[in-house]
Amino acid sequence: MIRPVLIDTHAHLYEDVYAEDRADMILRMQSAGVAKAYLPNVDETTIEPLLNLCENYPEIFVPMMGLHPCSVKENWKASIAMIEKVLFSNPSRYAAIGEIGLDYYWDKSFIPMQQEAMILQAQWANELNLPVILHSRNSMDDIILLLKKKIKVTRTGIFHCFTGSLEQAQRIIDMGYYLGIGGVVTFKNAHLPEVLKAIGPEHLVLETDAPYLSPTPYRGKRNESSYITYVAAKLAEIFEIPFSKIAEITTQNAQKVFNQTVLTTE
Ligand code: NI
Repeated sequence: MIRPVLIDTHAHLYEDVYAEDRADMILRMQSAGVAKAYLPNVDETTIEPLLNLCENYPEIFVPMMGLHPCSVKENWKASIAMIEKVLFSNPSRYAAIGEIGLDYYWDKSFIPMQQEAMILQAQWANELNLPVILHSRNSMDDIILLLKKKIKVTRTGIFHCFTGSLEQAQRIIDMGYYLGIGGVVTFKNAHLPEVLKAIGPEHLVLETDAPYLSPTPYRGKRNESSYITYVAAKLAEIFEIPFSKIAEITTQNAQKVFNQTVLTTE
């Protein structure tokens, strides 16, 4: 039997929390059938660990580059200038611009700067013909508005960690974007399964957001890419289709977002 291949479209596996057992964690990921993970950048401090990990495992990890909205603070212009320099010095190295977006959960005082940073980075995506990875915590309607009114991203991309309503899901799909589904879908009392059931699996990709948002039964613990099997199993249950079919659909979707060439060239 051929084991279905899974793709983790969003994981911060370069973070220090894996320093002790990163090689084992990667072995567990491979034995779980997770063939690839796409690694989003956070800010200027994560560039080096991210690129090192991708260099050490070029078959497994693919880098993405961007400034996370939670890192848009007083000095954001300096941060984004550094990220721009790294990105444009070797643009073909990156599978997407990310993660970028708006975060209205924590500090609201930087919202105008977050918006400016998101628009600027979406322009890079168009310039380089790359998709975007969008972080939309408590801000999904504003992101949709920006993408409709201010900056249309040609290659579209992924609404990472989608947890919104059916209406929001439909608007996102209508714009040509995919929904990144992670551990939240396995949480008790989550409304997400109902929303997903209504829209179907055709616009979904899998993600972990590791080390955050571990699926049940690891909720609250450190997440890792091998746990994506719990997310895929939950989707199989929601759609009442085999696990292998979920793997096939979400892997195809991920390949569409990132473009086949990214998966095969170095
Ligand atoms: Ni993330």
